This record gives sequence, structure tokens and C-alpha cells, in this order.
Amino acid sequence: MSKKITAALGAVLLAALAACGGGGGGGSANPGGGAGGQDDGKLVMGFAQVGAESGWRTANTKSVQESATAAGVELKFSDAQQKQENQLKAIRSFIQQKVDVIAFSPVVETGWDAVLLEAKRANIPVILTDRAVDSEDDTLYETFLGSDFVEEGKKAGQWLVDNTQGAVNVVELQGTTGAAPAIDRKEGFESVIAARPDIKIVATQSGDFTRAGGKQVMEAFLKSNPDIDVVYAHNDDMGLGAIEAIKAAGKKPGTDIKIITVDAVKDGMTALANGEINFIVECNPLLGPQLMELAKKVVAGEEVPKRVVTEETTFTQEQAKAALPERKY
Ligand code: AHR
Repeated sequence: MSKKITAALGAVLLAALAACGGGGGGGSANPGGGAGGQDDGKLVMGFAQVGAESGWRTANTKSVQESATAAGVELKFSDAQQKQENQLKAIRSFIQQKVDVIAFSPVVETGWDAVLLEAKRANIPVILTDRAVDSEDDTLYETFLGSDFVEEGKKAGQWLVDNTQGAVNVVELQGTTGAAPAIDRKEGFESVIAARPDIKIVATQSGDFTRAGGKQVMEAFLKSNPDIDVVYAHNDDMGLGAIEAIKAAGKKPGTDIKIITVDAVKDGMTALANGEINFIVECNPLLGPQLMELAKKVVAGEEVPKRVVTEETTFTQEQAKAALPERKY
């Protein structure tokens, strides 16, 4: 009996040494690969998704799932339904399951240090995808793959500056309160329109990145603001909700009230091509292939850039008409 226990302890010790790569810590959180995971050699990734709040998110989930299959990665997928507590639980469960790598898109920016430290102590590397965390310690994650949301906000603001004259009343539909894209798209937009003091944001509120949220907030804006010229929505879905509210109020979206959104998913692009949206800033959800590539490198102990920025463009109504037939999401 005691021999069995000694043998088992020996095996645990050997596994621990192998996981540490024989080094004294530092460098990759998981050099040599495999804090645990499967014995079949397949890399196991725990992925904690934000939710299914938008067309963008659906496309992003599909991209991650399909890319995992294509790359031979075993994916443990969790949907947090836009709640940070659910994402924290999912990440802790991935740590317990000893996955090889954790990837997640943080629903909000703050409140992650403790769980990220737990992952680091468990020797499991973490990749941020789509959204960043607000932490002073950037050793808590290996890399951040995603858009430059401030730049997206700037592009939206620039279109407004270039395509309007005189006084302009803007209402803003913000994304989820505390989420990186909501904070950054607001900041980028405001920094550019500051050059035009006659452009004013007369109302701003969160529609939580959902179509229902955008509609509800827009209904309230229309009741309390008689002179709305422009809607700036932090994503297509909220813009599409706003279109419903504008039509219900007897006005013509895209003409009586101009609409600028971010994402460029199919429904948004269709509304743009139909003249109901005026300008869309692209945010690319197809992060799956790059994520799998980064995960393999990180688990193998290879160096990866700390920040990988997604390439993106913008669409006018004419450009949307041309791009729609080829649009994948
Ligand atoms: O983090 C990306 C944003 O989240 C997308 O712009 C939005 O549609 C989504 O819900």
C-alpha cells in the first residue's frame, strides 16, 4: 500500500517538474506545453465567451469553434451570458480541469487580477481575445488579440466631421457599461468631434450591445429630444434597434436621422446598403484562426507579440452594396 502511495507521489512530482520545464519560473506561463490537458497530444483550450448578445458575437463564436476543429484543438466552450461572475466561474473551472491554455473575451475591463493570478500560479497561459482587461500587471496574460476600439471610435467621429456642417445633435448608444469597446469607442469618437464644437452629444446611454437595448434607449431618446440629427451606436445591433424606434416614431432612418454604427455584420451592411444606416466602421469578428495559431505558439513556449491588432476598414452605402454579396458574416 505504502509503495503504491510512494509511486503515485513520484509520478505527481515528475509531472510537476515537467510542467515547470525544469526552469525557475519566468518567461512563458507554460513552457514546453501542457499544464495538464489530454494525454492524446491534443491541445485543450478553455474559452470563456462574453455571450450571444449580437450578430458580431455569433460570428466570433462560430469562427473560434470552426478554427479549433480545423487546428485540431479541443475546445471547452463557455457562454457567460454577459455576466462577469459567470466568466470568472468558467475560468476557475478551466483551471481545475487543467486545460493547456485559457482564452477569453472579458465582458468588462476590471476585476480580473485575482483569477488571472490563479491561472498563472497553475501554470496555465491566458490569451485575451477581442477585449482587453484593465490591469497594471501585463504578465498575467500572454497576448491580446483584437481590434483597436479607440481607432474605431475615431473613424466614426471623422465621418461625422467630414459629412456634416453647422450644428449637429448626436445621441449615443453605448455598449455594455465598463466594457472595453464601450469605453474606447466613446473616447475615440469624442476626441475627433472635439475639433467641431457645433457637434454636440445631447444624450448618451448604454443599450448593452443588444438590438432590444438599442430600441428601448432610442425610444426614450426620441421622447426627450425633439431635435436628433445623428445616432452614434457602438454596434450594428443597437443601430438596428434604433432604426425600429425611429420608424415607429414616424421618421425615416438614414434620412431624417443619420446613423453611424460599428461592426459591419450582414444585417448592418444590408441596412447600410438600403440607406437606413449612413456609415459603418468595421470590427472584425473572425479571430479564430489567429487565436489558434497564438495558442499553439504560447503552449509551445514560443514568443508571441504582446498585442496583435486586427486589420479593419470602413463602409459607405456604396461600398456596402459592393461588399455585401461576398460578406461571410
Ligand atoms: O467586443 C466587440 C463588440 O462586442 C462588438 O462590437 C459588439 O457587437 C459585441 O457585442
